[in-house]
Amino acid sequence: MALFNKKKSKDANYISAKESRRISSENRKITDEIEKQRNRKNVPREEYITQMKDPNNVVEFDDLHTYFFTDIGTVKAVDGVSFNIPQGKTVGVVGESGCGKSVTSLSLMQLVQRPQGQIVKGAIRLNTGEEVYDIAKTPSSEMQKLRGNTVSMIFQEPMTSLNPVFRIGVQLDEVIALHNEDMSKEDVKKRSIEMLELVGIANSEGVYKMYPHELSGGMRQRIMIAMGIACNPRVIIADEPTTALDVTIQAQILELLRNLKDKINSSIMLITHDLGVIAEMADYVVVMYAGKIVERGTAEEIFKNPCHPYTIGLMNSKPVVGKEVDRLYSIPGKVPNPIDMPNYCYFKDRCEKRFGKCEAAYPHEIYLTPTHAVSCYLYDDKGEVKDGR
Ligand SMILES: Nc1ncnc2c1ncn2[C@@H]1O[C@H](COP(=O)(O)OP(=O)(O)OP(=O)(O)O)[C@@H](O)[C@H]1O
Ligand code: SF4
Ligand SMILES: [Mg+2]
Repeated sequence: MALFNKKKSKDANYISAKESRRISSENRKITDEIEKQRNRKNVPREEYITQMKDPNNVVEFDDLHTYFFTDIGTVKAVDGVSFNIPQGKTVGVVGESGCGKSVTSLSLMQLVQRPQGQIVKGAIRLNTGEEVYDIAKTPSSEMQKLRGNTVSMIFQEPMTSLNPVFRIGVQLDEVIALHNEDMSKEDVKKRSIEMLELVGIANSEGVYKMYPHELSGGMRQRIMIAMGIACNPRVIIADEPTTALDVTIQAQILELLRNLKDKINSSIMLITHDLGVIAEMADYVVVMYAGKIVERGTAEEIFKNPCHPYTIGLMNSKPVVGKEVDRLYSIPGKVPNPIDMPNYCYFKDRCEKRFGKCEAAYPHEIYLTPTHAVSCYLYDDKGEVKDGR
């Protein structure tokens, strides 16, 4: 046992039970304070109603910090993220597993697992067309009205999001009725059938009466999309919407999303590991690494002129049709421990281009064009540093 302890204590990731208790009690103090603030009754509207920096945007993430206060330390899942989702555009968010893509989108939905998960700093401005809400400060009761109506989410695994014991129609009706309290039962059903047709389900009356297990994966994902768009949201978050599907169905679902976006004039925040999907769908691309944005720009800028060594690595690890390789490239090394981030560029330990300057503090964001920004010392003298976005 003594030997076991000795061995463990040398492990940098090991913390004692006493230390864990101390962290846990500190966390409770922090999260209790934030929760107390959040759970106040009758919060004045001036606290959370705000203005967009640019009214053409539907969402503006502004220096967002979302942390998880866990018993082994604070996970800085999203650590100073700023980007915009313009009206009617698709913004692709890409990066390896665990880099904070989902937590960014869950923050916008106010669905981060509380109390340990909290937005600790920054703003998320959501433009409903009439008013602008700062989601970081919006009370839960107000958020319920925005979720589904202004912003909705299509999840990765439809089988876990659909209830297996209820028919499709019942579940779709429920979503529509929830957001349209004055609609009659017949009108709700009519709208459900319309939605099923809109997402390309031919036998809509039949499917309305079916249970989720009677449908294929592609059909279930179409149902999820129907639920997501049922109330004409201004922003649709699609988190890995096609990962669980085979390639042909994947292409059909992407095509469907693209068509629907134009029909209902929404914007899409598309989260994926797959640069191929981004290339097909996105107008703008945001590349995340370890809770931060390392590069962002228009899709053309990112694909024609990827600048950050991490973006270049992601591009190189993507299979290319017609190009024969012995082994697909993969970026060496792994993402640093999110609890103990270094005080220099987070990518340094994996970067083949690192040089003397990279020892310094985390690099600023450099604007190479008004839309293309990169955080890397290689571009220090090739653009300008701006405050904010
Ligand atoms: N409930 C939670 N408690 C503690 N840490 C969490 C929690 N949810 C997420 N995290 C951590 O936050 C970080 C970001 O996670 P996130 O789910 O956003 O990654 P992601 O980019 O969506 O990855 P993937 O591509 O695998 O979906 C990870 O380090 C993850 O372990
Ligand atoms: S700052 Fe240095 S270590 Fe970081 S990505 Fe750029 S070249 Fe690589
Ligand atoms: Mg995710």
